[in-house]
Amino acid sequence: MDHFLYRGGRLHAEDVPLEAIAAAVGTPVYVYSAATLTRHFRLFDEALSAMPHLVCFAVKSLSNVAVLRLLADEGAGMDVVSAGEYLRAKAAGVPGDRIVFSGVGKTREEMRIVLESGIRQVNVESEPELEALSEVAVSLGVTVPITVRVNPDVDAKTHAKIATGKSENKFGIPIARAREVYALAARLPGLRVVGIDVHIGSQLTELAPFEAAYAKVASLTGALRADGHSIERLDLGGGLGIPYTRSNEAPPLPMDYGAMIERTVGHLGCEIEIEPGRLIAGNAGILLTRVIYVKSGEGRDFLILDGAMNDLVRPAMYDAHHDIVPVIEPEPGLEQQPYDIVGPVCETGDTFARGRDMPPLKAGDLVAFRSAGAYGAVMASEYNSRPLVPEVLVKGDHFAVIRQRPTYDEMISRDTIPPWL
Ligand code: LLP
Repeated sequence: MDHFLYRGGRLHAEDVPLEAIAAAVGTPVYVYSAATLTRHFRLFDEALSAMPHLVCFAVKSLSNVAVLRLLADEGAGMDVVSAGEYLRAKAAGVPGDRIVFSGVGKTREEMRIVLESGIRQVNVESEPELEALSEVAVSLGVTVPITVRVNPDVDAKTHAKIATGKSENKFGIPIARAREVYALAARLPGLRVVGIDVHIGSQLTELAPFEAAYAKVASLTGALRADGHSIERLDLGGGLGIPYTRSNEAPPLPMDYGAMIERTVGHLGCEIEIEPGRLIAGNAGILLTRVIYVKSGEGRDFLILDGAMNDLVRPAMYDAHHDIVPVIEPEPGLEQQPYDIVGPVCETGDTFARGRDMPPLKAGDLVAFRSAGAYGAVMASEYNSRPLVPEVLVKGDHFAVIRQRPTYDEMISRDTIPPWL
């Protein structure tokens, strides 16, 4: 459920008509609903309420500092994958002991930044990384809590570009080698083993792959404890999928996911951490754009929008489907017509949908891409020198710009011409 509904024939974000936001901020613009974000966070928090737990929002999915503050005020921890994300979480007021640091290629500089300012745990993904982290920790005179990310060799049954839990993927260490890697971790100075980490992929629409992975983690917990390691925490990653169409998809609910976690690892007495991103942010955001032209082509009509692949890359990158809806509610029974919906970027890949049935639209009309809150704004770029798309947060009947659209001058002035040119 989200809070983007038609009221009086106009699409609203909570109590704010999207037309008002377009008029004030211009388009394209991302619009987030605070009520949806908090609702989704609470669903996870409640789903795990029978166990000690921390829901760490995956900052990579939506990293605006205002959104992080909103979720932190709800009690969320954060999962970060770079020093940049860590510093965003800190800027939002999240204490270091509620931030977990994941990622396959952390640099020593990034390690230094998080160790100096405090971190709940580092999820380590390789032996060389263990050694590097140990060196940095010793040089700073600190001991860092760690987990090792294990790769359980489970097929997440999702898009190949976002599956991470098969042995051919670059992530984690093979679960079969976990005991030797933990033995190394225990020997290295400056590290304190606290648990196990796993994440098998994103946009999973079934529980079975999670359950298979978590069962492997449960038996590994027993083996590692028998080896003398203290396994107090299990970081079970993110990945629960969302419905991208209004009609047929019904991925499992956080409640079912929580019950499955309790069933597979609840008996171990560990604190449970999860790292959801998409399910919290995805349906909490839309990308609002305006039709620039309607162009008649050979046997098809193109809707040319002022939003493009640089603003929302998911369709170009993963063939992702986003529902696209007009801001003015179509009259019931109005005949639809197929459109190819495209942006202005000079690439054929800048196509959001082909032959998509829409009510008749004209230049100047507003349309909204649904389910664009996660991996939307964060993956935006300035390709074709289109200024970075701004973001707006709505709460009740008020809204605020939480990231300004840069002016052309601001965008261009980041470049410098060397004096020798
Ligand atoms: N934890 C780790 C270690 C991750 O790699 C990810 C996502 C998450 C948590 C959060 O997963 P979520 O709950 O959001 O599924 N750009 C792609 C998605 C990439 C996901 C990368 N890792 C997309 O637009 O579909």
